[in-house]
Amino acid sequence: MLVNLAQAITLLKQGEVVAIPTETVYGLAADARNEQAIKKIYFTKERPASNPLIVHIASSEQVLDWAKEFSPLAKKFADAFWPGPLTLVLPARENVSKIVRAGEPTVALRVPAHPVARELLLQSKLGLAAPSANKYTQLSPTTAQHVSESLGENIVVLDGGACKVGIESTIVSVLDNQWQILRLGMISASELEAVAGMPAQENQGYLPKAPGQHRLHYSPKTPIKLFESREALLAFSKTEQDCAMLLTGWSDTSSHKTYILSADPSKAAEQLYDTLHQMDALNVNTLLVELPPNDEAWLAIRDRLQRASQKLN
Ligand code: TXA
Ligand code: MG
Repeated sequence: MLVNLAQAITLLKQGEVVAIPTETVYGLAADARNEQAIKKIYFTKERPASNPLIVHIASSEQVLDWAKEFSPLAKKFADAFWPGPLTLVLPARENVSKIVRAGEPTVALRVPAHPVARELLLQSKLGLAAPSANKYTQLSPTTAQHVSESLGENIVVLDGGACKVGIESTIVSVLDNQWQILRLGMISASELEAVAGMPAQENQGYLPKAPGQHRLHYSPKTPIKLFESREALLAFSKTEQDCAMLLTGWSDTSSHKTYILSADPSKAAEQLYDTLHQMDALNVNTLLVELPPNDEAWLAIRDRLQRASQKLN
């Protein structure tokens, strides 16, 4: 069910959940200060309560409403990448709901760049807890349509068009003046390192909960088989008739249902989940996927494809 901005704000203030657009993926949002509302997120997604939520805020000025400290290092990241697809995990203030942070001593914060999300945060003055608006372990949604396909027609959606970044934010923890990547995203390790002026710490003394590490995360229903080379993929496709193929950059084959991701990693990320949703709807036996190059610019996309394929590989 679609609503407009004013209706979304009213519902959120009443403690309801609303699916909202962000530049990465659609989020299933609720007032992060309202524990009854937060419980509805976990219930709707069928998500285990042990998996904490990201709190979305309007600007860096609200960080200290949620975090105990906003260290110079965390400020550098925020200044460089907010609003945008970066989530910062910081020491939480005591008064941040334990349900939001799943009992962790930290809180995950993000200032999204999507104009509709920004308007919503500015006008409502709420902090919005929002995980991706899909059932637990399924593919993330990048359109309003994907949201209702996963969560049902009754879910309230604020439509903001198709998401431009297309995969979930890079998550970075900043604790004790050290930083660490917890989830890959389109903001790369070298961009982060350039801003930090120091390398990431591999294993921080306190190891925060690894996010999105569920074995079957980001999975379509159809099994996925990955290939490092196109040659191997095409050879395999001769043995498996009922399949569709996902290739990167170009194609000279028309023998199967073939989908192509852009040769530009940013564009490919934007296309990724929608393409997998379309391929899933074909109801073939297997999706054969050519992994993009093992280069830094493609790492987040490789990560999502690897997780999506866990059922087979
Ligand atoms: O781009 C995104 O990040 C999207 C949009 C909606 O903002 N959100 C998203 O949420 O991907 P979700 O819940 O699907 O993934 C957030 C991840 C979870 O895997 C969770 O474990 C991790 O963030 N997380 C949340 N709070 C954390 C914390 N305090 N410490 C470590 N990880 C945390
Ligand atoms: Mg998710």
